[in-house]
Amino acid sequence: MGKTISCSVLLALISCFYLLFATALDIITPSKSIKDPDVIISQNGVFRLGFFSLANSTNRYVGILYNQIPVQTVVWVANRNRPLKDSSGILNISDDGNLVVSNGKAEVLWSSHVNNTAPNATTAQLLDSGNLVLSNGEDGASSLWESFEDPSNAFIETMKISTDVKTGRKVELKSWKSIDDPSDGNFSFGIEPFNIRELVIRNNNQLYFRSGPWNGNIFIGLLYMYTDNLDGFEVFTDKSPYYMTYESSNESMLIYYELDSQGKFVEREWDAGKGDWSKNYPTIQTDCDVYGKCGAFGICDSMKRTICSCLKGFEPRNIEEWSRGNWSSGCFRTTPLQCQRDNNNGSGAGQGDDGFLEMKMMKVPAFPARSSIINGECKDQCMKNCSCMAYAYDSGIGCMMWSGDLIDVQKFSTGGVDLYIRMPSSELDKGKSSKIIVITTVIAGIVVVITISALFLWRRMAKHKGNIYMDNI
Ligand SMILES: *[C@@H]1O[C@H](CO)[C@@H](O)[C@H](O)[C@H]1NC(C)=O
Ligand SMILES: *[C@@H]1O[C@H](CO)[C@@H](O)[C@H](O)[C@H]1NC(C)=O
Ligand SMILES: *[C@@H]1O[C@H](CO)[C@@H](O)[C@H](O)[C@H]1NC(C)=O
Ligand SMILES: *[C@@H]1O[C@H](CO)[C@@H](O)[C@H](O)[C@H]1NC(C)=O
Ligand SMILES: *[C@@H]1O[C@H](CO)[C@@H](O)[C@H](O)[C@H]1NC(C)=O
Ligand SMILES: *[C@@H]1O[C@H](CO)[C@@H](O)[C@H](O)[C@H]1NC(C)=O
Ligand SMILES: *[C@@H]1O[C@H](CO)[C@@H](O)[C@H](O)[C@H]1NC(C)=O
Ligand SMILES: *[C@@H]1O[C@H](CO)[C@@H](O)[C@H](O)[C@H]1NC(C)=O
Ligand SMILES: *[C@@H]1O[C@H](CO)[C@@H](O)[C@H](O)[C@H]1NC(C)=O
Repeated sequence: MGKTISCSVLLALISCFYLLFATALDIITPSKSIKDPDVIISQNGVFRLGFFSLANSTNRYVGILYNQIPVQTVVWVANRNRPLKDSSGILNISDDGNLVVSNGKAEVLWSSHVNNTAPNATTAQLLDSGNLVLSNGEDGASSLWESFEDPSNAFIETMKISTDVKTGRKVELKSWKSIDDPSDGNFSFGIEPFNIRELVIRNNNQLYFRSGPWNGNIFIGLLYMYTDNLDGFEVFTDKSPYYMTYESSNESMLIYYELDSQGKFVEREWDAGKGDWSKNYPTIQTDCDVYGKCGAFGICDSMKRTICSCLKGFEPRNIEEWSRGNWSSGCFRTTPLQCQRDNNNGSGAGQGDDGFLEMKMMKVPAFPARSSIINGECKDQCMKNCSCMAYAYDSGIGCMMWSGDLIDVQKFSTGGVDLYIRMPSSELDKGKSSKIIVITTVIAGIVVVITISALFLWRRMAKHKGNIYMDNI
C-alpha cells in the first residue's frame, strides 16, 4: 500500500518535471504570447519578463526584473517611452516576426524593429543571464535582436557596453527621466575610443564624466579603481568593437550597475541581511568628477574648501565669475612660454628656455595623444614641440602628451599619475628663488643666534676667568 502511494507521488513529480520542460516557461513563440499579468521566467529562476508598474503610477510597462529579489528591481524596459495605460497589454511575436508590445486596441507601443525572413519560426527566449533573445533558427544560432544590445539604465553581468567605430553602433546605458519614470533621461553611459579608450557619461550629449584612459589594468582617472578592486571587470580595447563587461567570481554576491537619473553610475549590491540594495558610487563621488569643473588650466581638489584653483603661472580668466564659484571659464597663462616667444620673433626652433612642473597623483587632462616611446624620452619629445603643454607616463600606456587647453585635471589623494606641465623657466624659478630666500633667511637666523649666544658665553667665561685671576692675586 505504502509503496503504491510513494510510487504515484514519484510519477506525479516526474510528469510535473516533464510538463515543465515540454512547455518551456522561458519562451515566447508566434503561438504563445503573454498577456498582462502573465510572466515568463528564465530557467534558473533568476529573471522574469512581464508586466509591471512603478510607484505612484498606473502605467504598465513590459520589462525584465530580478525574480527572486523581494524589492521590485527592473533591469530592462521595452516600452519605456510609451507606457500602457491599462492592463490590456500583450507581448507577442507579430506576423512580420518582431517582438511587439501592443495594447487592447492592437496599437503597437514598442517593437524590436528587425527584418525577419522566417517569422513563423521565430522565438523569444529569456536566458539565464537575463538576456532576452529573438531568433528564427536561421543563420546558425545568430540572434535577430537581444535586450543586451538595446539596454535601458542597467548593466548586468555578461552584458557588453560597446562601441563599434566601423559601423558607428554603440551599446550604451540610457538613464531614466526619474526614479519612477523609465522614459529617456538626459544621461548616457558608454565606452569612448578617443586616442586611448575611456568610459564616459554624457549629459544631453555633452561630456559630463570621463574615467581617464584605460592602461590595460585600470582606468587611470577613476579614483575608485585605486581603492576598490573591481573584481571580474574586463575591458577589450585592442580593436573595434571596443567593449566593457563584467562577471563576478563570487556566485553568492549579486551586483549590478545602474545609470541613475542624476547621471551617477551606481553599483548596487544585494544585502540579504538588510533586505535591500546597498549602493556605491564609482564615478561621480565629488564635484571634482564633473567634467571640466574648473575650466581650462584649472585644477580641482575635492579636499580643499575652494575646490578649483589655477595651475601655477595661470590666473582666472574671469575673476568675477571665478569668485562666485563658476569656474568653467578657467584660467590663462600670465607669462608666455619661452618657446612661444622665440617662435613669435621668428627664431623658429622653439627649443626655448622652458621646463616642466611636476604634479603628483593626478587625474590626467582630457584628450591625450599617445606615443609608445619609453619613459625617459617623454620629456624630450614634449620639449621639442612648442604645442606640447604637458606630458605624463604610465607603464601600461607609454607617453601621453597634451596640446592646447588642459581640461579636467584633478588632484587625487591616492593613486593617479604624475603629470608634467610646461612652464617658462622664469615661472619655475619663482618658486625656487622664494624657497632659496626662505632657506637663506632661516640659516642666517640660526647663525646670528649661535653667534650671539657664543658671544655671551665668551664674555661670561672671560668675566669668570677674570674673577678667578683676581681671587688668586
Ligand atoms: C509616491 O507619492 C508619495 C506621496 O505623494 C511620496 O511620498 C512618495 O515618495 C512617492 N514615491 C515615489 C517612489 O516617488
Ligand atoms: C499579436 O498581438 C496583436 C495585438 O493583440 C495582434 O493584433 C496580433 O495578431 C498578434 N499576433 C500574433 C501572431 O498572434
Ligand atoms: C529592413 O528592410 C528594409 C527594406 O528592405 C530596409 O530599408 C531596412 O533598412 C532594413 N532594416 C534593417 C534593420 O535591416
Ligand atoms: C506562417 O503561418 C501562417 C499562418 O499560421 C501561414 O499563413 C503562412 O503561410 C506561414 N508562412 C510561412 C512562410 O510558413
Ligand atoms: C534634462 O535636461 C533638460 C534640458 O537641459 C532639463 O530641462 C531637465 O531638467 C533635465 N532633467 C534632469 C532630470 O536633469
Ligand atoms: C562572496 O559573497 C558573499 C556575500 O556577499 C560573502 O559573504 C563572501 O565572503 C564572498 N566570498 C568571497 C570568497 O569573497
Ligand atoms: C558660468 O559662466 C559661463 C560663462 O563663462 C556661463 O555660460 C554659465 O552659464 C555660467 N554658469 C552658471 C551656473 O552661472
Ligand atoms: C627673439 O626673442 C628673444 C627673447 O625674447 C631674443 O633673445 C632673440 O634675440 C630674438 N630673436 C630674434 C631673431 O629677434
Ligand atoms: C606638435 O604637436 C602638434 C599637436 O600634437 C602636432 O599637430 C604637430 O604635428 C607637432 N609638430 C611636430 C613638429 O612634431
